[in-house]
Amino acid sequence: MDIDTEPLTRAAERAAVRAGRLLLEEFAQGTAARSKPGAHEHDVVTAADLAAEDLIAAELTAAAPGSTVIGEERGGGEGGEGGEERGGDGGHAGEVCWYVDPIDGTHNFSRGIPLWCVSIGLTIRGAPAGGCVYEPVRDRLYAARTGGVLRCNGEVVPASPPRPVPMVLTDVPRPGGVPHPAELALLADLMVAADVRRIGSAALALAYVAAGHADMAVTPDAFAWDMAAGRVLVTAGGGAFAALPDPPSTVRPGAFAAWRPGLDELGRVTVRALKGWPNG
Ligand code: IPD
Ligand code: CA
Ligand code: CA
Repeated sequence: MDIDTEPLTRAAERAAVRAGRLLLEEFAQGTAARSKPGAHEHDVVTAADLAAEDLIAAELTAAAPGSTVIGEERGGGEGGEGGEERGGDGGHAGEVCWYVDPIDGTHNFSRGIPLWCVSIGLTIRGAPAGGCVYEPVRDRLYAARTGGVLRCNGEVVPASPPRPVPMVLTDVPRPGGVPHPAELALLADLMVAADVRRIGSAALALAYVAAGHADMAVTPDAFAWDMAAGRVLVTAGGGAFAALPDPPSTVRPGAFAAWRPGLDELGRVTVRALKGWPNG
């Protein structure tokens, strides 16, 4: 039976905006971040992440009873506790599955830097079906369904012309430690071709590429919830998206690259570099 993704994506949009407005209040007040137990010291969480994820999960399951919510902070779906895959990418695919990142860009959020967003991706039987990225600080809701058009605050986003120097939003170099040679090589390749900026929010980078604010997004350490929405936005906007591995994991970090039309050669070089990446 075909599932109508229109009401589902609308429910995700409502949940993202509702959570985003709450988060905006927290952002204005300032919220302390703490390192996640057992995780890399650069992996942080705030009380606001948890509250937003709970609100979103409640809204999504009310809108689609029986659906599976895979959230970055609370988990969900089958498995996950013992390092198993959760949700549609690990063979536990529900018909309707949501990948929720309640705050993508928590470091920025906790430091008062306004580059963060709420990201909700929808898959149907494991295939990307829709998604939205809400940027509360600018009150911008980017949304699309697979095979549909990209909208921002309900308006179709027009194609924007290529710029003379492309802009790449990335999270390379990664924070801390000695950079891996593959990381430095990728950065060098990107710097030859583009104006490269480290943004700290993978989902927002994808939304910006989709809407034409930037031309390419590259992140070497991303999970399914970081890219589930953004990949649909980019392809709806006419761009290309590649994940390594695909489908992306909920357990091991993987990489992605996304680029606007006209940047296929840089996209190809970048994907090749990511294939040689330690976790790619
Ligand atoms: C992080 C951001 C960042 C990416 C990290 C993610 P979070 O997500 O997307 O851009 O480089 O790998 O963990 O922790 O802010 O949700
Ligand atoms: Ca994230
Ligand atoms: Ca997050």
